[in-house]
Amino acid sequence: MEKELEKAQKILKKYNQEQLLNGYEKLDEEKKKILLEQINNLDFDKISELYENTKKEISFKDEKITHMEYVDKAKLSKEEYDKYYKLGSDVIKKGKYAVITMAGGQGTRLGYVAPKGTFKIGGGVEKSLFEALSDTIKEAQEEFNTIVPWYIMTSRENNDATEKFFEKNNYFGLNKENIKFFKQGELPMIDTNGKILIDEKGLVKLAADGHGGVFEAMSKNDCISDMKKRGIEWIFISGVDNVLAGLVDPIATGLAIDRNTLATGKSVVKRNPSERVGVFCKKNNRPYVIEYTEITEDMANAKDESGELLYGESHILTNLFNIKALEKISKNKLPYHSAFKKAKYIDENGNLVVPDKPNAYKFEAFIFDAFESLDDMSILRVKREDEFAPLKNAQGEDSPDTARQLYIDYINRKKNKKNN
Ligand code: UD1
Repeated sequence: MEKELEKAQKILKKYNQEQLLNGYEKLDEEKKKILLEQINNLDFDKISELYENTKKEISFKDEKITHMEYVDKAKLSKEEYDKYYKLGSDVIKKGKYAVITMAGGQGTRLGYVAPKGTFKIGGGVEKSLFEALSDTIKEAQEEFNTIVPWYIMTSRENNDATEKFFEKNNYFGLNKENIKFFKQGELPMIDTNGKILIDEKGLVKLAADGHGGVFEAMSKNDCISDMKKRGIEWIFISGVDNVLAGLVDPIATGLAIDRNTLATGKSVVKRNPSERVGVFCKKNNRPYVIEYTEITEDMANAKDESGELLYGESHILTNLFNIKALEKISKNKLPYHSAFKKAKYIDENGNLVVPDKPNAYKFEAFIFDAFESLDDMSILRVKREDEFAPLKNAQGEDSPDTARQLYIDYINRKKNKKNN
């Protein structure tokens, strides 16, 4: 361990991060080992670069941002609908379709400490988000008489709890052989001077690297090779927090096949210019999503000739990819976005600091930054009430109350349709 310690001291000196060993002597042997391993494996150049980037302003001045064409599912002719349905359902029936659910987020805004997917929708719907999503997969398996493998991305923090939850609930009736959990990557959090923080255990303070980490995590955890073994060609990826996510979608698949694109992103009409959703657009003629934190007010309010928002196709984090696209994307590095957050840490005197305002940068890759590496993608506008019931906040908009109501209405509409 002496050698490892020396190595760590040298690196830290070089990068001016010596604070990381402040509490080293007080740690037990196991933690000492972990800390040295963390330090000796960190990419300090990357961390310095990420810190420098926090000082840069985001601007689209030099980029050509334009409107993105979309296909409105509700306006398809019967011929078009049937054509897409046939192409897509053939893929699903042949077992060439898989689902990924990204469940590595922390659910801080919801104020819920367990994995977000275990959150019960409540109000008479005694199902968790995971169970609701399992139901969608089960129904599709029955409808198409097939198997839809399910890959669930967790984080270091919530993986065990997530796996246990599935086990306890008997995998909600799904075959556990067709469910694979995999952990996403992490990056250190840094303060406003670029110093890496120490967490409550005396180790490097790490945070999940964003849902854009899904590609790297998939290849590191052999998900892509597993998919290939199973003959999977199309993969639907969405977040755990949309209880209505249309996970198995023949139309989105058929559209991509017919238009010869390697991906389809589903969108809903943006409720108003300030809704907290990213929007699809083209950047330098390539597919792109401008995030709600990054769009300018002028762009958010711009309208087309018919009075619709020019950038009004909301990205609802429900995207379908061909396996070739996933392979291509996992080879590229996605950029990291920084978010300024409240983060507990141990200070230079060994005291725990619990900040009441943001104090540290967290770095996240966004899945939609991968769209740029595809020449083109299809956008399918779907109905908000059918496919988007996000659960983000404890109260008000996008809360358990709104998601539950949307879910109940959807289930009732489906029942009525069946009975008529
Ligand atoms: C996100 C999208 C936004 C979209 C909106 C739709 C981002 C940055 N923006 O916003 O374009 O319009 O959803 O609801 O995502 N997750 C992980 N690992 C992570 C971070 C997140 O698995 O490291 C998962 C979460 O569990 C969640 C989903 O990704 O299921 C969304 O993450 P969240 O951070 O809540 O995104 P939003 O800011 O709501």
